Amino acid sequence: MTTATLDHPAHVPANRVIDFDLFHFPVDGLEYQRSMRDILGANPAPVLWTPRNGGHWIAHSHETVAKVLADADHFSSRRIMVGPHDDTRPPLVPLQLDPPHHAPYRALLQQALSPKAVGQLGERARELSIELIEGFVTDGECEFIGQFAQHLPIAIFMEIVGLPASDRPYLTSIAETAMRGETEAERGQASGQLLAYGMQKVAERKASPGADLISTIAAAQVDGKSIDDFTLAGMVLLLLLGGLDTVASTLGFYAQFLARNPEHRRALVEQPGLIPNANEELLRRFPIAILAREVKAAVELGGVTLHAGDLIMVPTPMDGLDERKFADPLTVDFNREKPGANSTFGGGVHRCVGSMLARTELRIFLEEWLKRIPDFSIKPGTDPKVSARSVATITSLHLTWPVR
Ligand code: HEM
Repeated sequence: MTTATLDHPAHVPANRVIDFDLFHFPVDGLEYQRSMRDILGANPAPVLWTPRNGGHWIAHSHETVAKVLADADHFSSRRIMVGPHDDTRPPLVPLQLDPPHHAPYRALLQQALSPKAVGQLGERARELSIELIEGFVTDGECEFIGQFAQHLPIAIFMEIVGLPASDRPYLTSIAETAMRGETEAERGQASGQLLAYGMQKVAERKASPGADLISTIAAAQVDGKSIDDFTLAGMVLLLLLGGLDTVASTLGFYAQFLARNPEHRRALVEQPGLIPNANEELLRRFPIAILAREVKAAVELGGVTLHAGDLIMVPTPMDGLDERKFADPLTVDFNREKPGANSTFGGGVHRCVGSMLARTELRIFLEEWLKRIPDFSIKPGTDPKVSARSVATITSLHLTWPVR
């Protein structure tokens, strides 16, 4: 590391500077969250600065993570990720809108993810989970991400927006590349295809409306005006992407943990009543979202002054893994009290609108998988991989189990 690369703007105190690159930090095996916490932990200050990726602040404590997410007056979600910013894509709506514009769009998505709707989607998720597991249980092995984790959220998205089952192979294949493509260019191209697919569906539903979510939002009015096609496509894309990488990746972290910890697995098999709290505890221990915000106006945070236009990275693991908030935070304790009080689903006005659905999908996985495959491990000789991006993603995970 040369001194030049640790350059920093005049308003950044030198003792807050750390060399951290979100896209290239060393991850110890599958321990994405612990590795990030250990590297950032070299400097205990609650707000840090890194010169990497254009230079940005880092919220580095449970307090600063929560403060940034709660304060939409100072922290805009116009930019929600560290790294290159693509202005040609439609903004992901409502995520990239600030109050007061954000609320009416969020309300439209909330209708589709109401407790009643989630109840029905949960039933579908259970049927599909059983179908997928029964499909490979007698093989004694599977590649968990491609054969299970990705299928669930795509099928659920298709239910929400009323897309035909015949489109599933196409959507699964482009979503697979968008999520697990080798290069940034491949992933970007596949995201473009997803967008084109979304725009085509919007056009079709406008021409011939039904009772599905795309037709509902296409017919909705915000501030007395119809929503334009670009914005509609951004909403459809957010619903797909918001629930895809996130659920698939979280499932991957759950599966790798259980594969490596037989006593935790056994506890859930023998006491299924532990599953709801275990679900919250695993969400606390394995947050996958690394968010960002753009500073709108100068603001004090964690003893430093952030300037308008600065970018701040908000890693959700810095909340759930902060020992000032959770005792012994790296230990997974299914009997921990209140593990759910964390920022894994974000916070403030943009707090995940799909959190109830996500929790349901994850709980159903624990219930149905452990009933059928109570003993499993990572297949010897395989090399499971974590990709360090703004969503921590396990890109492949080969599991094996005894066939009964
Ligand atoms: C384990 C799974 C999930 C995790 C960890 C997760 C995490 C998050 C986080 C951290 C945010 C806040 C982003 C920000 O403030 O910048 C968010 C927002 C959002 N999520 Fe999720 N999410 C999950 C599943 C889902 C699902 C299943 C859906 C829908 C089907 C969904 C839809 C959304 C939407 C639409 C927003 C934007 C809300 C707004 O701007 O008001 N998410 N999610």
